[in-house]
Amino acid sequence: MSDDIRGTSRIPLVLDLDTGIDDALALAYALGSPEVELVGVVSSYGNVTMETAARNTCALLELLGRPDIPVYLGLDRPTASAGPFSPPPGVVRIHGENGLGGAVLPCGCRTTRQNGVDFIANAGVMRHRELCYVPTGPLTNLAAALRRSPGLASRLPRVTFMGGALTVPGNVTPCAEANVHNDPEAADAVLHSGLRTCMVGLDVTHQAILTREETAAWRELGAAGRLFAQMADYYIGIYEKNNPCLGGCALHDPLAVAAAIDPTLVRCLSANLCVDLTGPTRGRTVCDPARLRDAEKRCDVALGVDVPRFLGEFRTRVRRALGGR
Ligand code: RIB
Ligand code: CA
Repeated sequence: MSDDIRGTSRIPLVLDLDTGIDDALALAYALGSPEVELVGVVSSYGNVTMETAARNTCALLELLGRPDIPVYLGLDRPTASAGPFSPPPGVVRIHGENGLGGAVLPCGCRTTRQNGVDFIANAGVMRHRELCYVPTGPLTNLAAALRRSPGLASRLPRVTFMGGALTVPGNVTPCAEANVHNDPEAADAVLHSGLRTCMVGLDVTHQAILTREETAAWRELGAAGRLFAQMADYYIGIYEKNNPCLGGCALHDPLAVAAAIDPTLVRCLSANLCVDLTGPTRGRTVCDPARLRDAEKRCDVALGVDVPRFLGEFRTRVRRALGGR
């Protein structure tokens, strides 16, 4: 464990991002949260390739004044896939060619070669009893670390992931949410690993909406604020076409970070989940029939969210990260 963490009372946070637009907002939320110490970011594929996600994360950390935070390379393809992942055209439309809605960040010259799966499997900080590990892309890296280090499930205190849909339809197929759809085998392995998890899925993230009113205020906050407003407005524009009834864009990934830091923001159903791996429902998150009667439930599925309180926290923390008061 790093001395930095041992010496502070802040909660160590590790993010695992497929850095598109809402992942960028999640990163800003984390950096604007005084009670947590962001100790590393692992990269995943999904909204973009894994390499682009790593580049975007490095550039965003520089933009937000934290180039010191380590970025790790995760796996570049789903568990059952022979070739590297590249985002399909529908995803490219949602997050833009560069994953950031076309916003060109001023820096981004930093690169990284550190191995993310090794970091998850071995780093001392992953044993910290208050560690928050928050994947907001597919669960490929975590599943690989669990295969490499089977004891990890009992060492990692808890994982709060953005993904899945229990009571609402999926957003890629009628059953599957994007992060689980991208690697159903990994999600199923994590849900069977014995880890304590909290699933922040579409059940709640479609209730937490960012509007143009808020992004307009970011434009007053300087260069970082203007770039984040450009990214978020691009994302809102996609939602206005695809999902106009929401009145803005869903804050999927920031809500997962928020719920990891303050679990009282969400109301949960405790369950043992699994993922359908075959047939037309592939990628569906569902209560596991084989463990339905087990007394111990390993997953807290967020089904309710205190929207006003979350949006208030989001406003304060993201503005702080963007250089506002
Ligand atoms: O389904 C929403 C999720 O898919 C978010 O994490 C978004 O960033 C994409 O990865
Ligand atoms: Ca994401």
